[in-house]
Amino acid sequence: MMRTRAAEMTDAHTAAFQLPQEQERAQALASQYRIVYGRAPRFVVRAPGRVNLLGEHTDYNGLPVLPMAIDRSIMIAVGARADRTVQLSNTAPQFAPRSYELSDTIPPYAEGDWGNYSKAAAQCLARHCGLEFLHGVDCLVDGNIPSGAGLSSSSALVVASALALVAANEHTVPYETMAELLPSAERYVGTLSGGMDQAVSLLAQAGHALRVDFFPLRVRTVPLLPGYGIIVCHSLVRAEKSGAAKRGYNRRVIEGRLACRVLERALGSSLPRPLRTLGDLAVLFPHRPLLDFLPYLEAHVPERPLALSELAQIIGTSVEGLHASCDIQPNVGDHFTILRRVRHVLSEAERVNRAEEALRAGNADRFGYLMDASHVSCRDDYEISCPELEALIQAAKEAGAVGARLTGAGFGGCTVNLVPNDGVRAFLTRVDRYFYAPRLTHSERVTDYRFCFRPEAGAGVMRL
Ligand code: GLA
Repeated sequence: MMRTRAAEMTDAHTAAFQLPQEQERAQALASQYRIVYGRAPRFVVRAPGRVNLLGEHTDYNGLPVLPMAIDRSIMIAVGARADRTVQLSNTAPQFAPRSYELSDTIPPYAEGDWGNYSKAAAQCLARHCGLEFLHGVDCLVDGNIPSGAGLSSSSALVVASALALVAANEHTVPYETMAELLPSAERYVGTLSGGMDQAVSLLAQAGHALRVDFFPLRVRTVPLLPGYGIIVCHSLVRAEKSGAAKRGYNRRVIEGRLACRVLERALGSSLPRPLRTLGDLAVLFPHRPLLDFLPYLEAHVPERPLALSELAQIIGTSVEGLHASCDIQPNVGDHFTILRRVRHVLSEAERVNRAEEALRAGNADRFGYLMDASHVSCRDDYEISCPELEALIQAAKEAGAVGARLTGAGFGGCTVNLVPNDGVRAFLTRVDRYFYAPRLTHSERVTDYRFCFRPEAGAGVMRL
């Protein structure tokens, strides 16, 4: 077990606190901490939310994504404890204080409880670092990422909670290692999520998007388009990761696994080994376009949803066999759509490759075209849009967006829009008039629902 001073880590990630408003927020949080806990905190950690520019629902399928970190974040002021208790307070009164004991099997709070995101990180680190090397912490949490918006507030809370424990215990866990570990920590809250949110929250660089590849995790920065703004608009439909959207999300994860079983059957002996994810197709056949594999599926499965028994028959196994090989959770549903989901995933991965090229070439029209195509694919083949998102996309296109698409898990949440800088004012005026004005009450502020984001730095730790 390596133990070094946390100061090394703080030096490496000071960019996280470069924005003046983030420094001010950190100092204000530290003052509030003194009132709550009666002593000064030792660190403030910060983990940003993210907006995904392209590559939706590709991460858990082992295919790339193209997100950027935003200037909204979870901050935690942290003090070390000598025992194994974790105390949580939150600056937002709707999140009541919580307290639990560290262990490598921490019993969860009720579903949807905010404390579960801290527990998810704590249990993961207790297993990784060894419980004997982990002491508890007193935390004061402050978040300004809109929740249920698809901007990754929950993953940012998991990342910040992990950083808080690592910093207070003076451990060194490389950010890359944390980005590999923490997606599985989120299984704790029952989401089978991929690794995009944690990777970008930890590893983003200011001024850039981040291309992330998975299994193994690899990242590289990608420049954004000079002269264009990224505007994120909330559809006003909340899509909580802990709520109904979770079932729709988890079902799509299972559909990806089932698709691997069908492809193994369809490709037969031309496949050198079983597929862990659809992304293995790119690993095993690096010179073949991914969409080449669609006809193999088309020959075996129809477009319509299939019962598990039908799928078992197609694959040549039993329903029990599929439960075991695809780790199918109860409540995830009994009908699965395979062909359309795979068409989305494979075409989306190709779009990420083309989008990275377009960004590097500074080709805004091409990038916008790919964003639009991604949205159509998310809507029609992945079926994660909703009427409000559609109305918002239409308003955005009419307001001059070069590209507009839903972002994040879908089922509500936000859209991301590419808008030329000199068209931003007109864009906002039109979207406000045609989308928000008829839907918001007089007491609601439109500025709480649409944001101009610049790409910001990933997570960091500030020693006080
Ligand atoms: C959620 C998950 C991510 C990713 C997106 C969809 O945000 O947490 O891992 O799967 O949905 O692209």
